[in-house]
Amino acid sequence: MCGIVGYIGKEDSKEILLRGLEKLEYRGYDSAGIAVANENGVHVFKEKGRIASLRESVDANVVAPVGIGHTRWATHGVPSKVNSHPHQSSSQRFTLVHNGVIENYDHIKRDYLQGVTFQSETDTEVVVQLIEKFVKEGQGVEEAFRGALKLLKGSYAIGLLDEQNPDIIFVAKNKSPLLVGLGEGFNVVASDAMAMIQVTNQYVELIDKEIVIVTRESVTIKNLEGTVVERAPYTAELDMSDIEKGTYPHYMLKEIDEQPLVIRKIISNYQNENGELTVDGDVRQAMVDTDRIYIIAAGTSYHAGLVGKQYIEKLAKIPVEVHISSEFSYNMPLLSEKPLFVFISQSGETADSRAVLVQVKEMGFKSLTITNVKGSTLSREADYTLLLHAGPEIAVASTKAYTAQISVLAILARDAARAKGIEVDFDLSKELGIVASVMETLCDDKEEMEQIAREYLATTRNCFFIGRGIDYYVGMEGALKLKEISYIQAEGFAGGELKHGTIALIEDGTPVISIATQEIVNLGIRGNVKEVVARGANPCIISMKGLEEADDRYVVPAVHELLTPLVSVIPVQLISYYAALHRECDVDKPRNLAKSVTVE
Ligand code: M6R
Repeated sequence: MCGIVGYIGKEDSKEILLRGLEKLEYRGYDSAGIAVANENGVHVFKEKGRIASLRESVDANVVAPVGIGHTRWATHGVPSKVNSHPHQSSSQRFTLVHNGVIENYDHIKRDYLQGVTFQSETDTEVVVQLIEKFVKEGQGVEEAFRGALKLLKGSYAIGLLDEQNPDIIFVAKNKSPLLVGLGEGFNVVASDAMAMIQVTNQYVELIDKEIVIVTRESVTIKNLEGTVVERAPYTAELDMSDIEKGTYPHYMLKEIDEQPLVIRKIISNYQNENGELTVDGDVRQAMVDTDRIYIIAAGTSYHAGLVGKQYIEKLAKIPVEVHISSEFSYNMPLLSEKPLFVFISQSGETADSRAVLVQVKEMGFKSLTITNVKGSTLSREADYTLLLHAGPEIAVASTKAYTAQISVLAILARDAARAKGIEVDFDLSKELGIVASVMETLCDDKEEMEQIAREYLATTRNCFFIGRGIDYYVGMEGALKLKEISYIQAEGFAGGELKHGTIALIEDGTPVISIATQEIVNLGIRGNVKEVVARGANPCIISMKGLEEADDRYVVPAVHELLTPLVSVIPVQLISYYAALHRECDVDKPRNLAKSVTVE
């Protein structure tokens, strides 16, 4: 979603800001802008569309050592040049970029800003107008900034320039991520360390409701009352090669291929000296103490949660409910006496999940976040964290995070079973090792996946994924993958449920991709395939060695029956990738989507 960068130093800021914004492109956006300040004033450049268009519009003759930049994903007002950030106050003295949503922006307009002419339809513009109003009334800029922030309800990460003092970037944060990066003779601001990792790996984390006064030489953090807060920087463990595509045409393909390595990294990160896969003692204790687990997640992470429920219930015998985070807040089920909330989130920044975390913390319940991003909001705010060790996931379509989430959930379940004295008759470490090898074989079979995509999905309008039990959840993930990047209408269904309505949609040639990796439901799913074939469907069965039949389109090598989602998802990811490619879709940055959904 929206991204923020800022630079204050001695070099011209334009290129640093534009490069930073390019690093944030993966998050999804529809317009972008920068504002740079020099002795001649503040110069604003913004454009609807890609950063490449913004680049073209930037005046190369303007040289300025201070600036802020923004990628916008529209929430209030259509994607347009006028609605894109930075926004300026009426006198153009103040220039501001903002991530998040100001929930009470219309009340602020009504109560404080009557008579002000607004240029944009955004919620953001009230903030910059409010600061100007307070300054005009006689307040100092910092005081006006803090005063304005105190009135805001909602989420914000803000960068502010004052034309009359271009030696400062004012920064603030509440619920939306924002970091300050430290350099020699310069400092930077970024909503994600990835944006500025090329200039520094030293970052200071900001806590909600803090402001920061950033100059070339100093970074001063204060709370909203003006009291200075001391905080040591940390080193961002990001490797440039992790965030570059290398020789791959798309991040998605690179990330699919990284999955065997990720599984091996997870094994080595969670293995103890006895070779057992374990989690921290306090997480284990929380698992032992709880009487019911509530998994909260969105999108792909929700699908991983559905698989995780099977693991925790089957291995550790703890009841689990899996909930979509955006539904949970206002539709909370009756909770058990000792609930444990498990948040699954690649980014650790998903606002819908965070809203639930805030709620359950207020209720006094324990929480665990399973995330790929150390130090992310959900990680910081939960009681415990388990990391995915998947490396940065940049493509909007989540792939390696999904398999990492499932692996970590398996480890969590296995560890809880051990702690509760429940016998588990397989060696998870060994079985995950087999999974990694099978994943490699599957990733090497790209030509076949491309052929399947061409055969079934080149021209189709819609597609169904069916499965039973754990295969159904992989089907849901397959449908999400396909629709988000290829725009083919795709749905994942429980095989047995089709005949209760959805089978009416099957026409001559409708592709039905069926996942068949579970012995217990093998006959059932094959019966469901016959039902759709009888109505004209074009069946594509992805089965597992040992359960295969003559007409199966693709057979994946056998792995432990609980771990099949880790391998059956790979053909599905690759088929979706090639379908999107054939349709000339923007694979890594699908329309309307953002990588990290930081607004509710
Ligand atoms: O960062 P999170 O895991 O919390 O994100 C949740 C969803 O937004 C995400 O999984 C989304 O569904 C992906 N684009 C799917 O590929």
